[in-house]
Amino acid sequence: MVHPLDDVTLLKQLDKNEMLKVIEAFPENSLNALKIFDGYDLKVNKKTFRNIVIAGMGGSAIGGTLLRDWLQPTSPIPISISKNYSLPAYVNEDTLLMAVSYSGNTEETLSALVEAKKRQATIITFTSGGNMAKYANQEEIPCVKLPVGFQPRAAIPYQFFSLAVVARKVGLVEGTWSEVDESIKILRKLRSEMNIESPYDRNMAKQIASQLRGYIPLIYGSSIHEGVAYRWNTQINENSKIPAGSNNFPEAFHNAVMASEADAVLLKHVCAILLTDPYEQAETAAKIQRFRDIMSRRFGRLIEVSAFGKARLSRIMSSLYIGDFVSAYLGLLNGKDPSSIDSINELKRSNLG
Ligand code: F6R
Repeated sequence: MVHPLDDVTLLKQLDKNEMLKVIEAFPENSLNALKIFDGYDLKVNKKTFRNIVIAGMGGSAIGGTLLRDWLQPTSPIPISISKNYSLPAYVNEDTLLMAVSYSGNTEETLSALVEAKKRQATIITFTSGGNMAKYANQEEIPCVKLPVGFQPRAAIPYQFFSLAVVARKVGLVEGTWSEVDESIKILRKLRSEMNIESPYDRNMAKQIASQLRGYIPLIYGSSIHEGVAYRWNTQINENSKIPAGSNNFPEAFHNAVMASEADAVLLKHVCAILLTDPYEQAETAAKIQRFRDIMSRRFGRLIEVSAFGKARLSRIMSSLYIGDFVSAYLGLLNGKDPSSIDSINELKRSNLG
C-alpha cells in the first residue's frame, strides 16, 4: 500500500499555499539572500558596538536566535534577542539594534523600534514593507527589504542571511563565514532526501512525521541547538497545528528529566525528540545518553535526530531544515494546511483594538 505521505497529488492539494515548495527552495533562497543583501550599503562599518540586540517576534525572531547560537563561541560582544514592546535597559548609543518584522506591522517590534530610536542606538530594519518600512523611510533608518510573498516563518533564509550579512559587515564572522558554503551544500543534500517526491522508505522527514502522529512532541536540543529546538517547537505549532514544547541540554538534565516520573497514561501520548550534535562536548554527550535511557523507559516514544556537517552553522541549519520538513509533513498528515495562521491573525486583530 502507498504511504499517505507518498500520495504527492493529495499532498499538493492539501498544501494550498505551497509551504513544502518554499521549504524545498531553502538552499536557493539562501543563495539569493546572500546575493541581494551583500550589495546593500547599510551605513554600518566595523564600529565597535558594545552589544547587538535583535528585536522581533515569532518567525521574525528566529533568524536572530540562529545568529546568536552560531556566533556564541566567537563573538566578542553579546548578541541577544528581544521579544517584547520594550527593550532591555542596556540598549543605548553603543548598541546595534536590528529590528525585524516580516510584515512590518507587528506592534511589539514597532514599539521596540521607536524606543531604540529614542535611546540613540544604531538601527537597521528588516521588513517586506508595512509600517516598519514607512517609519524607516521617515526617520532615514536603513531598511533591508525582505522579498514579499512568504509566511514570515518560511522566509527564514532571507531573515537569517540578511542578519548574517550585517554581522559580517561589522566584523563578527571573519573566521566563520566559510561555513556558509558547507551549510548550503548540506541543505541541498538533505533536500534531495526529504522533498515531496522522495519516497517514504528513504525520506527521514516523512518517517519522523509519521512516527509523531498522535503524540505531543517535546523537543530537547543539544547545546548548539537551543534556537533550533525552539524552531521545531514553533514550526510544529504553526505548520502541524499541534501542541509541543522544547528545552535544551545541559539545562534539561536539571528539570525536564523529572517529567519522566509523570503518570504512565499521560506519558503514553508524549514523544521526546532529541536533537543531537556529533560534536557535543563529552560530559554533555555522556549525560544525553543517560537522559535518553531514562526518557525512553517512560515516554510513549523517543526519536533521535542527529545534525549533519562539520561546521557549527551546518549543524544548526541541517537540524532546523529537518524540523521544517517534518512539521509540514505532519500538518499534511493531520489534514491541515501548513501555511494557515487563523488563530495568530485572530489574536493580532484583537490586539489592535
Ligand atoms: C507567521 C509567523 C509568526 C509571525 C509573527 C510576527 O508565519 O511565523 O510567528 O512571524 O506573528 O509577525 P512578523 O513576522 O510579520 O513581524
